[in-house]
Amino acid sequence: KQVLVLFGGRSGEHEVSLNSAANVIAALDREKYEVIPVAVTREGNWLSGVTPEQLKAGVRQPVLTGMDVDAGVDPEKPKDDRTDLKVALLAVGKARQDNSPVDVVIPVLHGTYGEDGTVQGMLELANVPYVGAGVLGSALGMDKVLMKTVLAQHGLPQARFWSCLRRDWVNNASLVVETVEKELGYPCFVKPANLGSSVGISKARHRGELTKAMDLAAKYDRKIIVEEGIIAREVEVSVLGNDDPIASLPGEIIPLKEFYDYEAKYLDGMTRLEIPADLPAGMVIKLQEIAVKVFKVLDCAGLARVDFFIRKSDGEILVNEINTMPGFTRFSMFPKLWEATGIGYQELLDRLIELAIE
Ligand code: DAL
Ligand code: MG
Repeated sequence: KQVLVLFGGRSGEHEVSLNSAANVIAALDREKYEVIPVAVTREGNWLSGVTPEQLKAGVRQPVLTGMDVDAGVDPEKPKDDRTDLKVALLAVGKARQDNSPVDVVIPVLHGTYGEDGTVQGMLELANVPYVGAGVLGSALGMDKVLMKTVLAQHGLPQARFWSCLRRDWVNNASLVVETVEKELGYPCFVKPANLGSSVGISKARHRGELTKAMDLAAKYDRKIIVEEGIIAREVEVSVLGNDDPIASLPGEIIPLKEFYDYEAKYLDGMTRLEIPADLPAGMVIKLQEIAVKVFKVLDCAGLARVDFFIRKSDGEILVNEINTMPGFTRFSMFPKLWEATGIGYQELLDRLIELAIE
């Protein structure tokens, strides 16, 4: 089978995607699959045949075919949307020299323009099977406000939250502050509604920090969510499947910094993953049941990682969020949890490809 691995992308998680994709490409069984790497630069240009390592090393010309050049792309220039779409569709539809179509795409893209339904929509149009959630599940998973609204509708337990638009903050900051203080109080967490990997997120312990946190989040998104701060353990469960998904054992993130931010997650080595998490059997089952329910109500497919809080005061399980394309390096939580549950990295990729095609 021809497997196109798509990676990089325009989001703040570009770098994470390169690491995830490098591991995925290395692990795909070459007896079964012919692997076609397609890199998406930070500017949004698509380069077929370029590996994550080559992209990191500065390669900016498509290696496999001349089609990107034919479409008039200058990879150093910010993309022209229409040219880019043409290149993208060509890259997906005719990734090889001989123009035969690919069998499946693995969009190893995290965050906006990759994990949010945009690329999924393009793949639907191109009529190519792909790994992971479709347009709706991806979009719901990326928008924290709509995700939480749907979860609340299904009675799933969550921390309290409140949201507003950037415009509300710019035009009437004092009302926003007043509402956050009334609805949630301190500490609270301020997040752009649509970003992953903790980019643009901050904790606010008082009014001064809230103002700074809102300013920061507003830089990243027109929609901002504020969540009640809770003292909790952070555990995560991986989900695999389509209509009848299964859940892995939970893992726990043991932070060495105050909260699990982008730096701690990817740069610092400031966190430790406890796999499996040390939890009573009854709680493990409950977490798994909720993870599967979250996956289903958000209309996901293929894979997802569901992140939870377990409140320290009362042991209450609260859903934090879902990631429809979780970090996928060999050391990432998603594959590590499956490994602990009995599915190794390579088998996991086989299963995901089967789930995409079925
Ligand atoms: N958004 C990152 C990649 C994760 O959740 O693993
Ligand atoms: Mg996330």
